Amino acid sequence: LVLILDFGSQYTQLITRRVRQLGVLSLCVSGTAPLSSLTGLRPRAVILSGGPHSVHASGAPSFPEGFLDFAAEAGAHVLGVCYGMQLLVQSLGGAVEAGERQEYGDMEVETTATSSALYGENGVGNRQSVWMSHGDEVVRLPQGFEVVARSVQGAIAAIEHREKRFYGLQYHPEVTHSTQGKETLRRFLFDVCGIKADWKIQDVLDEEIKNIKSMVGTDEHVICALSGGVDSTVAATLVHNAIGDRLHCVFVDNGLLRYKEKERVMSTFNSDLHLPVTCIDASEQFLSKLKGVKDPEMKRKIVGKEFIAVFDEFAHMLEQQTGKRPEYLVQGTLYPDVIESCPPPGSGMTHSHTIKSHHNVGGLPEDMKLKLIEPLKLLFKDEVRKLGSILNIPESFLKRHPFPGPGLAVRIPSGDVTEGNALEVLRQADEIYVQAIRDAGLYDTIWQAFAVLLPVETVGVQGDQRTYGYPVILKAITSEDGMTADWYYFERKFLADVSNRICNNVRGVNRVCLEITSKPPATVEWE
Ligand code: XMP
Repeated sequence: LVLILDFGSQYTQLITRRVRQLGVLSLCVSGTAPLSSLTGLRPRAVILSGGPHSVHASGAPSFPEGFLDFAAEAGAHVLGVCYGMQLLVQSLGGAVEAGERQEYGDMEVETTATSSALYGENGVGNRQSVWMSHGDEVVRLPQGFEVVARSVQGAIAAIEHREKRFYGLQYHPEVTHSTQGKETLRRFLFDVCGIKADWKIQDVLDEEIKNIKSMVGTDEHVICALSGGVDSTVAATLVHNAIGDRLHCVFVDNGLLRYKEKERVMSTFNSDLHLPVTCIDASEQFLSKLKGVKDPEMKRKIVGKEFIAVFDEFAHMLEQQTGKRPEYLVQGTLYPDVIESCPPPGSGMTHSHTIKSHHNVGGLPEDMKLKLIEPLKLLFKDEVRKLGSILNIPESFLKRHPFPGPGLAVRIPSGDVTEGNALEVLRQADEIYVQAIRDAGLYDTIWQAFAVLLPVETVGVQGDQRTYGYPVILKAITSEDGMTADWYYFERKFLADVSNRICNNVRGVNRVCLEITSKPPATVEWE
């Protein structure tokens, strides 16, 4: 096990992923978590992440007292990255000062030691490009430490104390800009710490199935809210493997789904996955509650509340049928959701610092008093897709673009979604656009694509007639995880074709526009 202590760097998750990509299980915990929360863990390596602070700032986060003794007792090697290195140096009696030079972005560093744990033998003079991002720098090393690399400007870039098993990198080896960063992490884990690459997704599957079998009693029924997305589908399929048809999946048609979404998703569930799914048509219920509502947050809250109502009713019905109230709810929570729910230490940010209240059916359990089964809660999205493959979920399904819980309600910004035929117009335009992307072979290259309908009337001329119609916005992004995103650059011909097809086939649209904003400053959804 590799333990990653998070001090608030935007790259902490990336460290966790890089370690897993090397075949080693890594877990990320808050850097300031009490020592008692680590009881029972015996990491072979600990990585202290970077962070936005200066070690001298008041309230700068630090590992709990006794942490270095805990690491030593476990026999762990400790690697500090950026802020993590400065923290290590400071707590061992070295000195960190505000640097005369600030180093941000691509830099060159040069190995200065003939023999080094992090860089191997005979590396003196080797140069590599790395990604730096620091204002402070280490100016005096604690006793017994050695400098093994410096930036070309002379700042200390890498240090080690082999006997005590302490190492530090001033740059970020986890980002791809650090050209040899992955190799340095590989050397640290395998050669220095002696860890074996034996973590496989199949192990997660076997272990989770075993856990679920022992947790859920043999007469227990479990419910699962299926959104039609990858995460809930993989979670449901895994739990179905463990407990069979005592799993009851529910797919809710909330009236905010895409074109033929219900039919497509139900057909995959029934024919390909053989999952026991009940489809509940609650579209009237949702839409009547949304009538007249234009406020974005309000829409999200209403959708969340109605989901709870539908599931409560389903749980009640199941109780009548089986004589026992279901106690468990399956959720497709992923690891980033778990990490994000603990704000970066010292950031002064709480999770209530909400940009928009995301919810899928994930908002359910508190009110429903159900216990949670979250078999994916240690996995990243790409790992979930691999797990889905092992579970024989069709590739085409696993590659589906994300779709938000509140559905098309958040794609008619500041509009009453029940007004006129806005929802239907949006469905048709979106279908033409996404189908064109599939036909052009671009679906898998693009991370997410969809149409947005602006609920305003604009003037057009169609068939010599003056028309009033809605503008439709086309959006397509590339991204790793939806946290940041760039807009996708289509060829002119593709855009011209789609624009023509939408205006010619979707009654009510006389204008097609393209979004060319990254995230940030925009978010992916328009509200
Ligand atoms: P934003 O709009 O926050 O979106 O930049 C990032 C990613 O999350 C999806 N999204 C949601 N997913 N429930 C969900 O399950 C939600 O309420 C929700 N809002 C946004 C969005 O489609 C994008 O992939």
